[in-house]
Amino acid sequence: MKVLVTGGAGYIGSHTVVELQEKGFEVVIVDNLSNSYKEVVRNIERITGKLPELEVFDLCDRNKTMDFFRRHNDIIGVIHFAAYKAVGESVKKPLKYYRNNIGSLVNILEGMKENNIRSFVFSSSCTVYGQPDHLPVAEDAPVRKAMSPYGNTKQISEEIITDTVEANPHMKGILLRYFNPIGAHESALIGELPLGVPDNLVPFITQTAIGIRDKLSVFGDDYNTPDGTAIRDYIHVVDLAKAHVISLNRMINDQDKTKPEIFNLGTGIGYSVLEAVKTFEKVAQQPLNYQVVDRRPGDVEKVWADTSLANSELGWKAERNLEEMMRSAWNWEKELANKR
Ligand code: UD1
Repeated sequence: MKVLVTGGAGYIGSHTVVELQEKGFEVVIVDNLSNSYKEVVRNIERITGKLPELEVFDLCDRNKTMDFFRRHNDIIGVIHFAAYKAVGESVKKPLKYYRNNIGSLVNILEGMKENNIRSFVFSSSCTVYGQPDHLPVAEDAPVRKAMSPYGNTKQISEEIITDTVEANPHMKGILLRYFNPIGAHESALIGELPLGVPDNLVPFITQTAIGIRDKLSVFGDDYNTPDGTAIRDYIHVVDLAKAHVISLNRMINDQDKTKPEIFNLGTGIGYSVLEAVKTFEKVAQQPLNYQVVDRRPGDVEKVWADTSLANSELGWKAERNLEEMMRSAWNWEKELANKR
């Protein structure tokens, strides 16, 4: 069974391709390599023994996208990761984000419709909840006005997919709301490859520890949390990837859904920034240079997932703990250093 993975050369995409191949799916990746590298497919092959097919083009190009679907008329499902994701940049360049994240989505859904492809998995984010009133946050919590154009593209995309599935009885969708994906494959052959200065916490931690960055800035220690730093639900990227394969299989095996299903993907446990730093220091057995600075605008104080729906409906549960996440992220950073 052939699956299209858009953005399959990227961080979460590449881990999902590995899990799909290990479950016997044939994968074709479409990626414009704007934030990833061709070589990733070779490393996927080293892990799984199978080289995924890669087509390099931009899914915003409608003609190329339609042509792609016509050429690959045996695709049975799509997992859509390809999108821009830098929150700060999206505030400065909103149209870049709307054109890319929304334009490509519409092209893909049109291509699916035209070619009778039924199953669609979408990479969404817990950012749609903003700062929730109740924690842990469940899927029925209200969607809050987005804090950034990036967050807004996730909300709008969820609506576009919902409208499309509701209007087309043969189409099914699953919206996966990720909490904070971190870590890397245990082989240390694939992982996160941030371009330039990382925005996210864990790549910043590992780059500081390896000596690329001078020190980590901890954004605020005056939050209403036990140690004053903000709390997130970090989830191992391999656990996250597995949930995509389960979601796809669920749609392949079940013909009866009239609207997309939504699932939170997290561990259900919140850790503060300082707890994350301490856990890293423990597994890396070295102190980390950090300094508390002002809060980062737009950050929420605390958020962690109610994962009971994913646990019961998908039969999925995150298995790897924060130490394993940090260890794998550190092994990956060291592997990158070896290649430099
Ligand atoms: C961010 C986005 C989220 C997006 C996700 C995708 C915001 C507000 N949210 O999540 O919408 O889906 O990235 O990658 O930008 N931190 C530091 N120092 C750093 C970096 C981060 O203290 O150098 C802190 C942050 O303040 C936060 C935590 O670490 O409390 C996690 O930050 P990050 O990894 O950037 O993820 P989010 O902000 O949760």
